[in-house]
Order: sequence, then C-alpha cells, then structure tokens
Amino acid sequence: MPDRILRAIAQPTIDHRGPAFALLGREVLDGLQRVFQTRGPVVIYPSSGTGAWEAAFVNTLSAGDKVLMFETGHFAVLWRDMAARFGLHVDFVPGDWRHGVDPALVEQKLTEDRGGAIKAVAVVHNETSTGVTTRIAGVRRAMDAARHPALLLVDAVSSLGSIEYRHDEWGADVTVSSSQKGMMLPPGLGFNAISEKALAASSSARLPRSYWDWAPMIKNNAAGFFTTTPATNLLYGLREAVRMLMDEGLVNVFARHRRFGEATRRAVAGWELEILCATPEEYSPALTAVVMPAGHDADAFRAIVLERFDMSLGAGLGKLKGKVFRIGHLGDFNDLMLAGTLGGVEMGLAAAEVPFARGGVTAALDYLASEARRPALT
Ligand SMILES: Cc1ncc(COP(=O)(O)O)c(C=O)c1O
Repeated sequence: MPDRILRAIAQPTIDHRGPAFALLGREVLDGLQRVFQTRGPVVIYPSSGTGAWEAAFVNTLSAGDKVLMFETGHFAVLWRDMAARFGLHVDFVPGDWRHGVDPALVEQKLTEDRGGAIKAVAVVHNETSTGVTTRIAGVRRAMDAARHPALLLVDAVSSLGSIEYRHDEWGADVTVSSSQKGMMLPPGLGFNAISEKALAASSSARLPRSYWDWAPMIKNNAAGFFTTTPATNLLYGLREAVRMLMDEGLVNVFARHRRFGEATRRAVAGWELEILCATPEEYSPALTAVVMPAGHDADAFRAIVLERFDMSLGAGLGKLKGKVFRIGHLGDFNDLMLAGTLGGVEMGLAAAEVPFARGGVTAALDYLASEARRPALT
C-alpha cells in the first residue's frame, strides 16, 4: 500500500451530505471513468469484488436468462456459481485453467444461438488464479462477427490499473472491478462501469435488486453524492490512487506491468520451471503462476518463503491447491521490489530443496537492466 494512499485514508471523515464531500465524490467518479477509459457512468459500492459481480448480474438479467461463461480458472468458476444461484442458465464452456477465452469459440457459440437465447457473455479479463488473460477486444470482435446482441460483462478485478483496459473502445457493457489490486487500495470498494446498452437493459431486467440498484446511485452521483453511507476514507484513498496513476500515465503503468511480467517469466525460464499459462499472447502482466515440480508441495514451499523471508506468495486456488504458487507483480511495485521478490523465490526454492536451475534472478536482472535504457512513454 503506497504511503501516499495510506496518508490520504488517514484524513478525518467528513459529512457525506456536505459540499466538501460532493467535490470528493465527483473527483473519484470522474477519475474512475479515466481509469476504465469510459464516458459512461461508473458506480462505486462499499463492497468487495464479489458484490460488484452481483451488481452486474442483478441490474442486467432476469431469472431464466441464458449466460455464456468460460472455465478459465477459479474466479470464473465462482462467478458461474453465483449466476446459477440467481437462476440464470449458464452455458459453462469447460477449460483447462491454462488458457483464456477463445474468441473463435465465442463466435461459434453465438452464431449457433439463432434464437438469441444468450443474454450475456461473462468473461474474466485477468484470471488471478492462473495468471492467464483473455483478449477482451478479440471477444468483442467475435460477438460483432456473430452479429449477436448479448451483453458483454467483464471481470477486471485484477486488471484495472495494471493491465490495459478500454471499456468503451472494447464495447464492454458492464466492467466489474474492485479496490484491492491494481488500484493499490485496501479491500472495500467494488466498481461497475456501465454502457448505455447495459443501462437500457437494467430497465427491463427482473432479478430482484435493492442495495445493488444502479438507478438511485447514478441519480445521486450526478451531484457527487451516494445513495447510502459511502466508504468515505476509502474514497480519499481512491482519489489519491487515481492521481498516482494519472501522474505516471496509464501507458507507463501498463508498460511497467508488462516489463514485470516479462522479467518474471525470464526468471522462471532460468529456473527451468514451468509457467501455468500455456499461450504467450495470454501471459498476465499482473501475476505469474508457476507450476511446482512433481512430488513437491507448493504450499510447503510458500510456508518456507513466508517464514524465512517474510514474503507472501500467492497460493494455488481451487483445483490448483498445492500445485502452483503465484508471484504477484502488480500495483505499487518497482524494478527493485521485483528483484527482491524473485530473489526471495530463488532462495526459497533452494531452502525448500525444490529442484531448479540457478540463474533465474540473473536473467530477470539482465532484462530489467536492458529495459532501463528505454525512455518512458508519454
Ligand atoms: C479476478 C477476480 N474476480 C473476482 C474476485 C472476487 O473479489 P473479492 O474477493 O474482492 O470479492 C477476485 C478476488 O481475488 C478476483 O481476483
């Protein structure tokens, strides 16, 4: 958590019905539009990402609607489970957790749906459980090629603020995100960026909704206010986070994360370990999941790294438990922090007596040093 954000959050809480709050409200709402790259409304809830998932469904769909989803990893499975609990009929395309959504399959599925039964396509942009991204622009092109009217719902929980994301240009209808990843904030804020088409769908959508209803929020937001009591101190943090992202420039933020992804993969290759993501075009700039060699438990290795070096690596989630560990390289992160992280992994592999080749860290440092000669993007 950057100090700038922690200090911002520490300010005294103000009256959320007063004029000073209205300025804060408008600044964070306008700022989030820039981060989502949209001109449409963005709604902010005091919630985790799961709440923002729910808001996307209940505002746009009705019980019995068909939704096309893809098994890209643990979070896609959880989102599917939620859809099923709401009585949505999910066509859940199976996957091996090593690939993103195949746009050709989206086109095929939608072309076959001649009666227009599918009301939404819901995909996870960056699967935090696997380090695999889905190419959202490709999914959009596939939907357009099939001339299908389904809404495009995208989970950008672990991509917003770290991986290039263009809500308007990519024709997303609802983009779901939250505060605790690339936005560098504590958990506690959930976001929905909303297209005109999604807004229109919300007037006929019949899933029960109350707390998550966009309409009263958007009405109040116009003047900078919120329907219910907002998470004021997190909004101070959000204002600071948006300023930090804009000071650096989104293009530079995204380039920095791509650099971390590449350096990390060079380290993994140097260790002669396997990256879970099977398709180079789908490598995540935000995190890298590494497959543990057979006969070794990733959680035992993670426990050693935590105990010896006070560094918390990501666990394998769902069916990947014990089989992979995840190196996070997103948010308030720089080259030296990555060098330390990779150093901790390399020392941990040795301490845990996991078979690996030396030289991963050196390969990563060589790459970071060569990239340091490049000028920043403007
Ligand atoms: C891609 C993705 N979607 C959804 C979620 C769920 O968000 P939360 O745990 O904030 O409810 C997460 C959480 O890590 C996530 O990584």
